[in-house]
Amino acid sequence: MKIRFLIVSGPTIEPIDPVRYISNYSTGTMGKALVVAAKKRGHAVDWVSCPDGAKTARELLALLKKRITQCDVLVMAAAVADARPAFYSDEKIKKEHLRSIRLVRNPDILKSLAKKKKENQVFIGFALETGNVSKLAEEKRKRKNLELIVAQRVTKNKSPFGKTRYDFHLMDASDGYELRKHETKSRLAAVLVRRAEKWFSLKNS
Ligand code: CTP
Repeated sequence: MKIRFLIVSGPTIEPIDPVRYISNYSTGTMGKALVVAAKKRGHAVDWVSCPDGAKTARELLALLKKRITQCDVLVMAAAVADARPAFYSDEKIKKEHLRSIRLVRNPDILKSLAKKKKENQVFIGFALETGNVSKLAEEKRKRKNLELIVAQRVTKNKSPFGKTRYDFHLMDASDGYELRKHETKSRLAAVLVRRAEKWFSLKNS
């Protein structure tokens, strides 16, 4: 079984002016681990690594709309900036004018791609939560029409970004809930590739 994976990772960025932007702490580590794990199992991988592959949320959405039809499994591990400055300034904004930045919402990429999702496609997403992780993640999974969502709790003292081991909450539409404690991202990536294979077989048999 050879599956075509579309793996999206890393942070998107939203420019404010030629020298400043809004972004987040994502390092793209999970995406790299997923690419390695999928290739190890002999699958074909199309990897979009943000911000090099696509800078802003809107650029990423436009790119993925083109590529989505060519994949069996989408793994959306990108940390998309949920908002962008309402206005981009071509000139560097002088500090005396830099008091507040009005933001507008970015599109929800997964939700948008889900509208044209094919019956036999598998979508996997990630979630960062601070409250009731499993409940919020399950709601998010359904809202975004995903087969599986991987949630991480964000706390003041522990960051889920980078190479650290972490506790991962897996919400799977058929297998239900699984908590994988103190897991490396490469081990988690191997588990996710197996889950994707299971879903692919289920949907394509
Ligand atoms: N995501 C997306 N488009 C966005 C924001 C997030 O496609 N504009 C994707 C992420 O790549 C991830 C999933 O949606 O796979 C959940 O991201 P998360 O930031 O946890 O959730 P949000 O949808 O942004 O919701 P909230 O910030 O309200 O928790």
